[in-house]
Amino acid sequence: MDTAGTIFLPPGSSTLAGDVDALFYFLVYASIAVFGIVVFALVFFIIRYRHRRTEKLATTQGPSHSLRLELLWSIIPTILVIIVFVWGFRVFIRMHVVPKDAMEIKVTGQKWFWSFDYPEGIATVNELVVPVGKPVKLLMSSSDVIHSFFVPHFRIKMDVLPNRYTVTWFEAIRPGNYDLFCAEFCGDGHSDMIGKVRVVSEREFAEWLETGTAGGEDLPPEQYGASLFVGRACHTCHSVEGQRMIGPALNGIFGKEHALASGERVIADENYLRESILEPQAKIVAGYEPVMPTYQGLLNDRQIDALIAYLKSLE
Ligand code: CUA
Repeated sequence: MDTAGTIFLPPGSSTLAGDVDALFYFLVYASIAVFGIVVFALVFFIIRYRHRRTEKLATTQGPSHSLRLELLWSIIPTILVIIVFVWGFRVFIRMHVVPKDAMEIKVTGQKWFWSFDYPEGIATVNELVVPVGKPVKLLMSSSDVIHSFFVPHFRIKMDVLPNRYTVTWFEAIRPGNYDLFCAEFCGDGHSDMIGKVRVVSEREFAEWLETGTAGGEDLPPEQYGASLFVGRACHTCHSVEGQRMIGPALNGIFGKEHALASGERVIADENYLRESILEPQAKIVAGYEPVMPTYQGLLNDRQIDALIAYLKSLE
C-alpha cells in the first residue's frame, strides 16, 4: 500500500509498508492518548485536591478502593495490548513468510560494502537492482562481523550474520532509487556502508540482466576504472588524494617501492595490484590492518585491468 511520508517515516514504497505504518501509527496515537489521559488526571487531581490554607485537614476516611475504577484500568489496557499483540503478530508473519514466486538474490555484507549475486550470474556492489511489482527474497550472510540490511522506504531491516543465513523479502510498488543502510555498528567504515536499491520496470530489468552490470564497459579503461573504484566501494577505504584512511591512499603508488608489514619491500606493479585486489591478505602494507575483503568473483579480468589503469593514471 502507498503511504505518504511523515516526520516519523519516509513514504512507504513496498507492499508491506501500509501494514507496518498502520500498526506503528496506532501505537503512536494510542500512546499519546494514554499519556494525555494520565497527565490530564494528574493535573486535575493536583488542582482539585490541593491544600487550602483556610481548610482544616480532612479527617474523614476516603474509600479504600473502587472496584469499578480498578476493573476499568485493568480491562481497557488489557484489551489494548491484546489488539497490539494480534495485530503485530499478523504483520510479523506477513513480513517473514516469503511469497512462493519470489525471485532470490544473495546478499553479502562485509566491511564495508554490500554485494548482490543474481541467479543469472551477475554480481553488483552497493546497488541492488530489482523489478517493480515482483516479490524479491534476499538470502543474506556476512563474511566478517554482524551487519544489518535496512531499507527505510520498504520498512525492512534484518541482521546479516557471519556463518548463518537470514532472510527478508519485499515487493517494491514504485520505480525509483531507495537508500540502503547498514544499521549495525560494524567498525570504522560503518557509516560508509550505504547503497541504493534501484527499482525499475520489468522491461528495464530484463534489459539490465541482458547487459549485465555493464555501464561503462565501452569507456576508456581509466574512466571505466574510475567508475568501478566508486561503484565497487573501493573509495570507502582508499583515498586517491593522499589521505590515510582504513587502507593506504592509492594515488602515486604505482611503480614505487613500498614497505610491507612482513618487513619485505615490494614494487607496486600490475601483478602486485592484481594480487592485492584478489588476495588482499597476501602482502599488507606496513602500518595497516589486514582487513580488506577479497574481490574474487566480484570483478572480472577486464574490470581489474580497468582499475589498474585508473590507479596508474593517478598522480
Ligand atoms: Cu556494516 Cu555497519
